[in-house]
Amino acid sequence: MELAIFAPRVGHHERVAAGPGTEGDYLTSPELHGAFGALLCGLIEEMWRWIGRPSTFWLIEGGPGNGTFAADLLGVAHAAFPRFAATLRIALIERSERLRARQAAALASWAPIVRWLDPAPDSWQPLGMGCVFANELLDAFPVHRVAMRADGLREIYVGLQGNEFAEIEQFPSSTAIGRQLGAGRAQLREGQSGEVNLDAGAWVRAASELLTQGYIFVLDYGEPARHLYGPSHPSGTLRCFRRHVMNRDPYTQVGVQDITAHVDLSAVARAAESAGLTLEGATRQGRLLRRLGLADVADELTEAVPGRVEQRAHRAALRLLSEPSHLGRIAALLFGKAAPPARLAGFAAGVRATAPRPSLIWELRGDPLRLAESM
Ligand SMILES: C[S@@+](CC[C@H](N)C(=O)[O-])C[C@H]1O[C@@H](n2cnc3c(N)ncnc32)[C@H](O)[C@@H]1O
Repeated sequence: MELAIFAPRVGHHERVAAGPGTEGDYLTSPELHGAFGALLCGLIEEMWRWIGRPSTFWLIEGGPGNGTFAADLLGVAHAAFPRFAATLRIALIERSERLRARQAAALASWAPIVRWLDPAPDSWQPLGMGCVFANELLDAFPVHRVAMRADGLREIYVGLQGNEFAEIEQFPSSTAIGRQLGAGRAQLREGQSGEVNLDAGAWVRAASELLTQGYIFVLDYGEPARHLYGPSHPSGTLRCFRRHVMNRDPYTQVGVQDITAHVDLSAVARAAESAGLTLEGATRQGRLLRRLGLADVADELTEAVPGRVEQRAHRAALRLLSEPSHLGRIAALLFGKAAPPARLAGFAAGVRATAPRPSLIWELRGDPLRLAESM
């Protein structure tokens, strides 16, 4: 999986057309509609206020893809929250050189306040106060595949038989695999298989070292261990995407298709707690965006957009962002580092969001609907 995604020249993320977006292989929330970045801008501005309106606030984004979220956030912040915007500095963490170039292009007009960090977590030093943000980063990390057999846990290795890939079951390559499953009280039944992502928790723990104070905010497809390894996923959650079509065979179109697996949220929460972070909120993207004012955005955009077809397209995109059968089921976890316990809109019921005026989203970035007609 590591090689299929990142091998120089031939890995998926190094291919010219690969990546999130309508031209790529899969669609992410910022690539679907500008309302995502605009509503989360209101939430991140609130974080800034909770930690006392520091004069420099770092937005540190892991796995920024095309750079769309950071560009949306900067645009909305400058128009709707100028005092917050004046404090913003952006640090991006990206493994793919090709995507780093795309991010630089998307953020060209903000170049003086944008920098890239070495993606190796052991090189990270504290930057200051702020928020670490990552959307669909952790579920892109390579995983160990495992299967429960009568005589215990086995790891599924990839080997060759002639010129064909072949699966070979052996003892796990690391005791950390069994430990992580055990710590989450995951009980794989005989015959059941699944995936173990050892890097997700480690990344969150390391990323927290980038902040002296603030929040770690991650959005990913994922479930608590007891569901992830429960009967609803008898053969795991590994999925491959090529031009928005999903399949479950990682041995076809190697390097051409993207590969992901759901994140064990219990393991991420344990890693965060072991780093001294406190869980401030856990919800799903649909509920988060609705609490942040998605319905107002939908109403206002519908009025602002000329033409019934376009109006329907906007409504459909906003529904995809929030429906549990689509992007709405993505898990949203918020951790605090040395931050006062927060009641942030989006995570707490009954807290009014300071959402930017919905029409701003339209005015700033042109048509915020990024769904190509070809889809
Ligand atoms: C599924 S994409 C999500 C992109 C973007 N956040 C979005 O929502 O459109 C995953 C991103 O994480 C990057 N990535 C994957 N593993 C990484 C790592 N270990 N460190 C930094 N970036 C990584 C990929 O190159 C890509 O930019």
